[in-house]
Formats: sequence, structure tokens, C-alpha cells
Amino acid sequence: MQSALVTGCNRGLGLGLVSALVRKYPRATLLAACRKPQDAPELQELSGKFENLHIVKLDLSDIDSYKSVVEEISNYTKENGLNLLINNAGVTSKFTTLNYVKSQQLIDNFMINTVAPILLTKQLLPLLKLASQKNPSSIGINRAAIVNMSSILGSIALNDNGGFYPYRCSKTALNAATRSMSIDLKKDNIMVVSLHPGWVKTDMGGANAPLDIETSTQGMIKTLESLNETSTGRFYQYDGEELAW
Ligand SMILES: NC(=O)c1ccc[n+]([C@@H]2O[C@H](COP(=O)([O-])OP(=O)(O)OC[C@H]3O[C@@H](n4cnc5c(N)ncnc54)[C@H](OP(=O)(O)O)[C@@H]3O)[C@@H](O)[C@H]2O)c1
Repeated sequence: MQSALVTGCNRGLGLGLVSALVRKYPRATLLAACRKPQDAPELQELSGKFENLHIVKLDLSDIDSYKSVVEEISNYTKENGLNLLINNAGVTSKFTTLNYVKSQQLIDNFMINTVAPILLTKQLLPLLKLASQKNPSSIGINRAAIVNMSSILGSIALNDNGGFYPYRCSKTALNAATRSMSIDLKKDNIMVVSLHPGWVKTDMGGANAPLDIETSTQGMIKTLESLNETSTGRFYQYDGEELAW
């Protein structure tokens, strides 16, 4: 893996993923996207320590900015293209029972959890295709891969307690996008998967979550490294277990 872009890197799992990747892949070009780099002290410190880690300013709600952000990314990845895109950034809403759910919560969750990863991926396709052409090895993250950070709450088959309308529906829709992308990009040898990080102690996961960021991110990286041509279009959790859609 020579290059990777991760969104939502100022905190939580995004920060954990780039901290792990930068140590594991010291020669790769790593691009850490976040919407307010000036308010991301931990990420700034990390990129100060590692020359190969670059911060890219990206507010996912500003779709019109994607084109210029992708131009900036291509200045880093150059003729090698982009091997790995991790659409990690996400949001959730608090009051999500059927009685209390609000239209704006649904819209906000769909915007960041579904619309943004689809449209950012669309904009990055030329870089992913370039990487795929340049690395005619086996299929996986060393060649070209899109990882959509989903959630077990997006699984329809595993939903046995209801609620969470904005978050669940937006992640289920993201899963649908994963499946379609995997079919559409098969001819380009680009692997596409949905990934559930486990229930993790972050601002989103809360203090009661059983997993820490390091366990989840180390597991996700190990799982991603193990995926191959049989994995595309599937839904995995951090420890490699496959989940039902
Ligand atoms: N933690 C869990 O237990 C858990 C479980 C299942 C799935 N997930 C998924 O894992 C991913 C990461 O979650 P997390 O736990 O790390 O959440 P988190 O701690 O709340 O972090 C969310 C990240 O997304 C970014 N983000 C939100 N809106 C954005 C926007 N408009 N533009 C750019 N970045 C934006 C945030 O940036 P700002 O600081 O600028 O808001 C932050 O970096 C999410 O997709 C989440 O749904 C998490």
C-alpha cells in the first residue's frame, strides 16, 4: 500500500487509523482529511512527527469543494494514484425514536454518512483507477480499495431493537452504495467493502463502549490487509468476521 486517504482524522477512529497506518507504512503517502486542521492539535503533532503524513482540509458538507480537494490529493499521490480510500467521517443524532425523530436529523445523517462518501468516491475514482492500473497484482488494499465505514446498526438482518432512524437508515444506504460500487468497479479491479469498527470508546461510541480505539483500528487494518478478490461487495467487522447485510 503506497497511499491512503482517511476522512475525519482529527479525533476518534480516523485519528486512530492514521496513527496506526503512519507507523505501519512509513514509506506510504498518507493523507489525513479533517474539516478544521487548525483545531486538530493531535493530528498536527502526528504530522509534525511523520513526514509522510499530510493534512488535507475537507468539510464533507461542502460538496462543491471536493474537486479542488481531489486536485490537492493528486498533487501528493502524483502518477501512482490512490491505493486506499477510507470514508471514515460520520455523524449520529441523539433523539431517534420514531416519536421524536426530526427531518433535519435524517437529512444531516444522510448528508454526511451516505451522500458525502458516494460523491467523494466519485470524485476520487480517477486516482483509484490509476492506482489499480499501476499495480496489476492481486486485488486488495495494495492495489485499489474503497472502505466505507459503516456500522452494525446499518445491518437490516441484525436489527432486533429498532430506533436510531437517522443513523441506521443512513448506514444501510451506505451499505447499498458499497454493494453497487463493488459491482460497478469490479472491471477496474477496485475492491469495495463496508466495515464495522466494533463499538468503540470515541465521542460517538461513548465511554461505555467495550473496545478502545487501538484495538479497533489495529483489528481493522489487519482485516483490510487480509482481504482479496473474494471480499469485494461484503460487510466485515473490525476483527474480520463477516456481517449480514
Ligand atoms: N465509535 C463507534 O462505536 C462506532 C461504531 C460503529 C460505526 N462507527 C463509525 O465510525 C466512523 C468514525 O466514528 P468515531 O467513533 O470516530 O466518531 P467521532 O469520534 O464522533 O468522530 C467523527 C469524525 O467525523 C468527522 N466529521 C463529521 N462531520 C464531518 C464533516 N462535515 N466534514 C468532515 N468531517 C466530519 C468529525 O470531525 P469534526 O470533529 O470536525 O466534527 C470526526 O473527525 C463513523 O463513520 C461512525 O459512524 C463508529
